[in-house]
Amino acid sequence: MNFPVYRARRLRASEGLRRMVRQTRLSVDNLVMPCFVVHGKGIRKEIRSMPGRFHLSIDELVKEVEEAKALGIPAILLFGIPKIKDELGSESYAKDGIIQMAVAEIKARVPDIVVITDLCLCEYVASGHCGIVRNGRVVNDETLELLARIALSQAEAGADVVAPSDMMDGRVGAIRRVLDEAGFSDTAIMSYSAKYASSFYSPFREAADCAPRFSDRASYQLDIANSDEALREIQLDIAEGADIVMVKPALAYLDLIFRVKEETGYPVAAYSVSGEYSMIKAASSLGFLDEKRAVLETLTCIKRAGADIIITYFARDVAKWLG
Ligand code: PBG
Repeated sequence: MNFPVYRARRLRASEGLRRMVRQTRLSVDNLVMPCFVVHGKGIRKEIRSMPGRFHLSIDELVKEVEEAKALGIPAILLFGIPKIKDELGSESYAKDGIIQMAVAEIKARVPDIVVITDLCLCEYVASGHCGIVRNGRVVNDETLELLARIALSQAEAGADVVAPSDMMDGRVGAIRRVLDEAGFSDTAIMSYSAKYASSFYSPFREAADCAPRFSDRASYQLDIANSDEALREIQLDIAEGADIVMVKPALAYLDLIFRVKEETGYPVAAYSVSGEYSMIKAASSLGFLDEKRAVLETLTCIKRAGADIIITYFARDVAKWLG
C-alpha cells in the first residue's frame, strides 16, 4: 500500500481513533511490586540509591501490601535484609528468618495477594555472592542443596511462588524436587532464567547490601553480549520445571523478551531493575524527563516486546496512574 491511498496519519487524528487501534495496553494486572523487608518495628527508611523506595519492617510492610492490594496489584516480590551474614547464609532458611516471618504475616493479614519470594544467598552470606564460596570460587552443586533448603522454608512460610535469582546450574530442578517431595507441588517457580551480569543492579546492591565482597558475578550471570545462551538457559529452566521464566534487566534486553516469548510461549516476566528505576528518578528530579510519561512509556514497551509480567519499583505509582 502506497501514499496517497494509504495515509498512516488518518488513524492518528484523534484520541478516539488512537484508542481503537492501540495494540498494547499496560494494566495493573501486569505488575509485581518488589519490597525490601528488615528486622525491627516501625521502620520506614528511604533507600538512598532508590528515592521513593523504603526499607520496611514487617508492620510497615503489611501497610504497604494492603495498599498495593487496594490498588489492584496482584503480586509482591519480597527481598529480606538479615540481621547477620554468615558462611552459609543461615538466616535465609531459618524459621524465624526475616522472609519467613514477613511471608507468614502477610499471608495472615493480606490473604489474597500473591506472595513471591526472591530466593538467593547474596543478601545472607558474608561473601555477597549468590552461592557458597570455596577457595575463592562460587561452587555450583553444593549451593543447590542450600537453595532447595531455602525454597522449602519459604514454601513452608506460605510463599505462593519462589523466585531463584542465583543463576546456578540445575537449581530449578533441585528446588522442584524438594518442593514436590515435601508436598508443595502447588508452589510455583518463577525463575530468573536469563539474568545478565548488568551494571543496572547497583542501586539494588546498596538497598539489599549484597554487593560481592570480591570479584564480580560474571562467572554465573550471563554475558550481556549473548542472546542464544539466554535461550538455552530458558529452555533448561522450563525442562527443569519453571512455571514462569524471567528476563532481567528489561529495558536494554527487549530483544530477549521478544525471543523468549516467541520461542517458548511461556509466561514471561521482565524485571525492570533498580538501575532502570533510579535512572528515571534521577533524570526526572532534575527536570530532564517527565517521570510519569517516561515510566508509562518504558513499561508499555516492555509489554509490547512480549512480557506478561513486569516487576517494577514503580508498581504503586503506575497502579495509581492507570486507576
Ligand atoms: C540477588 C538479586 C539482585 C537483584 C535481584 N535479585 C542483585 C544481583 O544479582 O546483583 C537485582 C534487582 C534490581 O537491581 O532491581 N541475586
